[in-house]
Amino acid sequence: MSGRLIALANLKGGCGKSTLALNLAAGLARRGSVALVDADPQGALRHWSEWSPLVGESEITVLSGDPLQNLREAAQIHRYVVVDCPPSLDMDLTGELMAQVDTVLIPVLPSPLDLWASAGTVESVHNARRINPGLRAWLVLNQVEPSSALSRAMTQALANLDLPTLSNGIRRRAAYRLAMLEGKSVYQLNARGREAVREIEWILEEVLRP
Ligand SMILES: Nc1ncnc2c1ncn2[C@@H]1O[C@H](COP(=O)(O)OP(=O)(O)OP(=O)(O)O)[C@@H](O)[C@H]1O
Ligand SMILES: [Mg+2]
Repeated sequence: MSGRLIALANLKGGCGKSTLALNLAAGLARRGSVALVDADPQGALRHWSEWSPLVGESEITVLSGDPLQNLREAAQIHRYVVVDCPPSLDMDLTGELMAQVDTVLIPVLPSPLDLWASAGTVESVHNARRINPGLRAWLVLNQVEPSSALSRAMTQALANLDLPTLSNGIRRRAAYRLAMLEGKSVYQLNARGREAVREIEWILEEVLRP
């Protein structure tokens, strides 16, 4: 089954790994049981889960501690596992996690600077494929502004990165920040989260396709 073990990775910080990890996990929770492995020592998802009304209610189990062990154990128990990888400090751990999952999503902000800074992460994917040849990987544009066509520099930088980009990206929306603040996902924001839910579902459909 495709997209069962999904890692959100980018050695560049602040590109949306944790935001995407928790919202994708919430979307997957409607399809089967989900564990969210917090591999970031900053523990963003652990903090979120401590006041999240979601965790008990919708079958998202947040695991902190040894990420590799948590990933292995969660893969035995849960239908889906989503891993929030750490930023730059721990490149080796990101590589080891990539060797264990079936899918990597690399969120990138739509600026050439951010894309260039993601080249090291793309290289980690290629390295991980030596031991995990079936690893599927995409870039995901995050915080896209409405109506802004991608600049020529951006399109060129994307083409140079040598990994496909998911056909649907994520817009910059207050709903993502609001959900995080309220200890929820965009699925629990009702009307306020409708557009965000739609784009998370588009991503899941593409990633879960065999
Ligand atoms: N699509 C979006 N719309 C609006 N705000 C967003 C969006 N994606 C992320 N953010 C905000 O941008 C900031 C960085 O996002 P996030 O913490 O998910 O990134 P990260 O890659 O996990 O960062 P780190 O590398 O520090 O772990 C957060 O304040 C988050 O709320
Ligand atoms: Mg994070």
